[in-house]
Amino acid sequence: MIKVWDGFIRGFHWLLVIGIAVLYVSGEEGWLDLHFVTGYVLLALMITRVAWGVFGSDTAKLKALFHHPKAVVKALKSKRAHIGHNPAGSMMVLFFFVVIFVQLISGLMTTDDILMDGPLVSYVSYDWVELAGSIHKTNIDILLVGIGVHIIAILLYRIKGIKLLRTLLTGKMASSDNAPAIKNGLWAYVLFILAASGILVLWGLEPLSALL
Ligand code: HEM
Ligand code: HEM
Repeated sequence: MIKVWDGFIRGFHWLLVIGIAVLYVSGEEGWLDLHFVTGYVLLALMITRVAWGVFGSDTAKLKALFHHPKAVVKALKSKRAHIGHNPAGSMMVLFFFVVIFVQLISGLMTTDDILMDGPLVSYVSYDWVELAGSIHKTNIDILLVGIGVHIIAILLYRIKGIKLLRTLLTGKMASSDNAPAIKNGLWAYVLFILAASGILVLWGLEPLSALL
């Protein structure tokens, strides 16, 4: 067995899933204090993931996500488990990163036209706020389709005999290849807590006190 996913990547994934679920429900229901606070924590989580993509383990590296289109096609046909994201999975990961940042940044410029303004609303023109609001409402559907495709892909791999979910849960897989360099995910959690605290102090004190 070799270790392929560090503790941060494994925790990041499920925190991301919980965060998106809370943001989706709170956005649709109009529970905007909860929506804003969760949005700030998710922003900190995503910033930490990008930083971990520079300083973290080999399998977390952003540069490991860019591949030639031919490698993507080859990965789709392959029946072997890959160490880290395979080139096709890497496309999915990049897609998620872009779409989630678009959702977060557009949210920061969105208003409900009544009580709650995203923290960047006062810095941009009304046209931008209108555009951000419509991006925020459309992009969520793109994200939902992506999540559907992601889950179907994981199931299809399972049918092929490649247990990606088990590897993500345990962090380990059977392989005779050399183990990748894995760093201690604790550093990333420290960064995440610092980033989340910083953003909450900067923008989140009002919605947080309304929640508590
Ligand atoms: C990945 C993160 C996010 C997701 C998945 C998300 C999702 C949603 C959803 C599903 C809605 C309801 C849209 C509709 O009525 O059709 C919504 C509304 C809203 N979101 Fe987000 N959101 C995210 C981040 C943020 C952030 C960071 C902010 C600001 C701090 C924000 C501010 C708002 C506001 C102000 C509304 C109300 C818009 C209105 O009433 O017209 N969102 N969001
Ligand atoms: C809100 C829903 C979800 C989102 C936004 C999401 C997003 C992601 C992202 C961004 C990654 C890459 C992790 C990284 O390198 O940082 C990933 C990987 C993964 N996700 Fe999800 N995910 C979701 C739901 C699920 C569910 C429900 C499952 C279980 C069936 C799942 C199984 C996996 C697996 C197994 C991997 C590793 C794939 C590989 O080995 O290349 N995900 N997901």
